[in-house]
Order: sequence, then C-alpha cells, then structure tokens
Amino acid sequence: MNLLKEMASRDRVFDFMAPARSPVDVRHGPILYLEDVSVSFDGFRAINDLNLTIDDGELRCIIGPNGAGKTTMMDIITGKTRPDHGSVWFGSRHDLLTMNEPQIASLGIGRKFQKPTVFEALTVFENLELAMAADKRIWPTLTARLSGEARDRIDEVLVTIGLTGHRDRPAGILSHGQKQWLEIGMLLMQRPRLLLVDEPVAGMTEQEMERTAELLTGLAGKQSVVVVEHDMGFVRSIARTVTVLHQGSVLAEGSMDQVSSDPRVVEVYLGTESDNTEDARC
Ligand SMILES: Nc1ncnc2c1ncn2[C@@H]1O[C@H](COP(=O)(O)OP(=O)(O)OP(=O)(O)O)[C@@H](O)[C@H]1O
Ligand SMILES: [Mg+2]
Repeated sequence: MNLLKEMASRDRVFDFMAPARSPVDVRHGPILYLEDVSVSFDGFRAINDLNLTIDDGELRCIIGPNGAGKTTMMDIITGKTRPDHGSVWFGSRHDLLTMNEPQIASLGIGRKFQKPTVFEALTVFENLELAMAADKRIWPTLTARLSGEARDRIDEVLVTIGLTGHRDRPAGILSHGQKQWLEIGMLLMQRPRLLLVDEPVAGMTEQEMERTAELLTGLAGKQSVVVVEHDMGFVRSIARTVTVLHQGSVLAEGSMDQVSSDPRVVEVYLGTESDNTEDARC
C-alpha cells in the first residue's frame, strides 16, 4: 500500500487509475490537434494562439528558446494546465479540454518528464510490471504469478529499451540514461498512442544520446512521438518535421534544414551555426 501511495503522489498519471480506454479515431485527420490555444499566467501569455497538428505515427521535434512555452504546451495536452481558450483534440473523438489528467492518460497519451521518476528500490522488471497497462484485473495479482502475456509484454519492452540484461537489477543503480529508458519503457507498458517527451537527453553521454535517438525513432510509426529538446545535434539526428515555438506560437515548421536556415529562427534561437548547441542548451 505504501507503494501505491508513493505512486499516487508522483507526477506520473498511471493508466490503471483511470477508466477503460476508448478508441482514438484518426481516420479523418491527425492524432493531435491544437487550434488557437492561449494561456496566460498573471497576465503573461505563455501560449499565444498556438496551432499544432501531429499525425498518427509521426515523430515531431519541438524546439525553441527557454520560456517559449514548450513545456506549457505539454501541460495543456495532458490536462495539467487549462488554456484560457482554444481547442485541443485527440483524434476526432476526444475533446481533451473536457477531460482531467487521468482521463487523458487513459486515452493513451503518455508523458515523460525531464527527471526520471523510476522506483529505485524495485528491479527494472518490477518497475515495468507496476506500469502494466490499464487492465485492472492485473493489479491484484501483481504479487502472484504474471500471465504469460504480461511477461511477454515486459520482455518485449525490455528489448525495445535495451535493458534486458538489467531486468533483475534495482533501478537505483542504473545510469541516468538507463533510468530515462526505463521510464520510457514504463510508459510503453501502457501502450500509448502518443508519447510526449520533454528534454530526454539532458545529462546523457554521447553514447546514451545515440541509443536514445535509436529508441525514439524506432517508436515512431507504432505511436506518435513529440520530443522537446534543446540539443540541436540530437534533434538533427532524429528530426523529420521540426516545429519552432517562440513566445507561445509557432514561428516556423519544416525539415531541420528548412527551419535552421530560416533567418527568424536563427535570430531568436539558433544563432550562428558554430554556437548552435551551446546557445540552444538550457
Ligand atoms: N504555472 C505557471 N505559472 C506561472 N508562469 C508559468 C507557469 N508555467 C509556465 N510559466 C511561464 O510560461 C513561460 C513558458 O514556460 P515553459 O516552461 O512552457 O517554457 P519552455 O519552452 O518549456 O522553456 P524551457 O526550454 O526553459 O524548458 C515561461 O515564462 C514560464 O515562466
Ligand atoms: Mg520546458
């Protein structure tokens, strides 16, 4: 029970806390649709008539200077912050502005915060076990034998996140990068349709960054992935479409080459090519 309390007190919204999932209809449009969304904090417009569309299976990178509204945008999508006006739809069926955080999570929107929040005393396997998808029937039996199907799913996710060899090690002794992958794995256990990942490679080694690039590009297609990141080398290595946020709105959108040669983007964010990464990092 202590564990349950600890889980409930964390930022992560676990799927099993929410009602059963209803399907996301993407037959006639994008998986995520934001239109004219604005939010002000004490009179400051952090998000300013933001329009954004993410297609099913897409990998989208969001870049922009500190304070551009990237995290606030994720807060709005996940129900943590309510916009003052605008529309936010998940597929054509789900109006996210009518839902609370657990309901939004239960639709299949998983969010990875910057700091890993794995359960350090538990093994990698147990962390994944706890994050098992919304099947409430699994929950009472967690301490008993897992079904073959559940075990297979954990094994599959262990392979995806590259931690098969660490399955029985406590999460607390993993490297920073491995903890980040484990947390992505915990989100994957809930079979999300859309993953929101905020600054995944901050604090990672070059090698960990390369592995994270492989992981995220491998996830796209199976689910939609939105990645906010300041490390331009990393963004360049994974980017298909890049959206540049500035003062709460989209300043530019296109391929990495297109946005990085856009004079407005260079002026507000990238600077000269030689100081890209230094200036762009937080
Ligand atoms: N809950 C809040 N209350 C007051 N101001 C807020 C709140 N959340 C965000 N802000 C402000 O909104 C603006 C956008 O912040 P946000 O964290 O979304 O930027 P960001 O693009 O994620 O920046 P960074 O790259 O530094 O993470 C900032 O000026 C921030 O101070
Ligand atoms: Mg942020």
